[in-house]
Amino acid sequence: MNYDPYSRQLQEDPFPTYRYFLEEEPVTYNEQMDFYAIFRFDDVWNATLDWKTYSSRLGPTLENRGQMPGTIMSIIGMDPPLHVRVRTLVSKGFTPRRIAALEKEIRGIAQHYLDAFVGEGGGEIQNAFSNKLPMDVISALLGIPKEMREEFREGVDKMLQRDPETGLPPADAGAAVVRNGQRMIELLEARRRQPQEDLITVLAQSEFEDLDGTRRRLSDGEVCSFVNLLAAAGYETTMKLIGNCIVYLWKHPDQRRELWCDPSLLDGAIEEVLRYDAPSQFQGRVMERDVELHGVVIPKDARVALVTGSAGRDPREYEQPDRFDIHRKADRQLYFGYGQHVCIGKSLARLEAKIALQEIAARFPDYEVDEAGCTRTYQAHVRGYATIPLSI
Ligand code: HEM
Repeated sequence: MNYDPYSRQLQEDPFPTYRYFLEEEPVTYNEQMDFYAIFRFDDVWNATLDWKTYSSRLGPTLENRGQMPGTIMSIIGMDPPLHVRVRTLVSKGFTPRRIAALEKEIRGIAQHYLDAFVGEGGGEIQNAFSNKLPMDVISALLGIPKEMREEFREGVDKMLQRDPETGLPPADAGAAVVRNGQRMIELLEARRRQPQEDLITVLAQSEFEDLDGTRRRLSDGEVCSFVNLLAAAGYETTMKLIGNCIVYLWKHPDQRRELWCDPSLLDGAIEEVLRYDAPSQFQGRVMERDVELHGVVIPKDARVALVTGSAGRDPREYEQPDRFDIHRKADRQLYFGYGQHVCIGKSLARLEAKIALQEIAARFPDYEVDEAGCTRTYQAHVRGYATIPLSI
């Protein structure tokens, strides 16, 4: 069997394919696309911890073969020690306490979009709400003004889009990257003139110790890469989590009813949606040495996909992994990554999903999804709904 993460069939439903690879071929090589993939929970877990072997220096998508340095993608394309030094510049902004303080603001944004949705009598919720909430939240944190958000969001979507026939990004993706970069430079220049209480300003002003021991600020390019990464990572995944929560709870009406009656189940329900269908299905790495795994040698310099989407369905880690169960108690999880690159925004994503569900439950707890009308995004390593028609 061939593992082609961009094929239409895999993007529609990867789980039968994962089942095959989990049992029959836990390490595979895609000859046509020239990359390896590993599928089992323990293997992915160990790889995320062993950054000296599984390097992030070419970034998390598989296409980069060294044409561009991973640092263009900011921290997600770096290894320690530089990774740690640059990540620290913003990590204080994402502690659970700092994120909890944003609750009122996030709830206000959710209420604004959901009230409008109810006012319209319902309709397609992914674009009316699930996309908007995370983009507004991360933009408010970063300092991206309201009038720029829609264009920026479209640019991010384009960068990650892949044609299911060719596996290539759309022809105008490059232009979208350049346009988003220009907007970032404009914002950064404005912050240098007039600092604000936002992360762009924090990144523009803070100093770190570079590898040669000198203390310096991030360059304009480095700030822009970091802001781009935070905006893209904060939006693309969380909007998919919210869409998945809406659909999977509708598909399990008994569990949905139970959840609405007992809000203490909410946190566990969100974790289960993340495990069941991870918004980020794989993370790319590059090998720093030969490794033999399950009888296959993954050679130095090969690109390898750590398939967290299949790790969430590994029966060696989870009992009855294909069963959706909001009561599940899981000890370990990989859907936010693990180790050096564990998601910086995981508390924020969890809070946004929680508020989204609370506010939906308060307005239209018995919503119905028109499953036949749902469509999917076709993107690099993220998987989720593009549209979810809903009746309320
Ligand atoms: C459901 C929502 C989310 C999911 C499933 C998710 C998933 C992930 C995963 C799997 C990684 C690891 C990447 C790797 O190992 O190469 C990661 C890293 C990252 N995430 Fe998230 N993420 C989510 C939300 C967010 C949010 C809201 C932010 C906003 C700040 C964010 C920012 C980041 C950043 C900056 C990194 C890179 C960290 C590093 O390289 O050190 N993510 N995320």
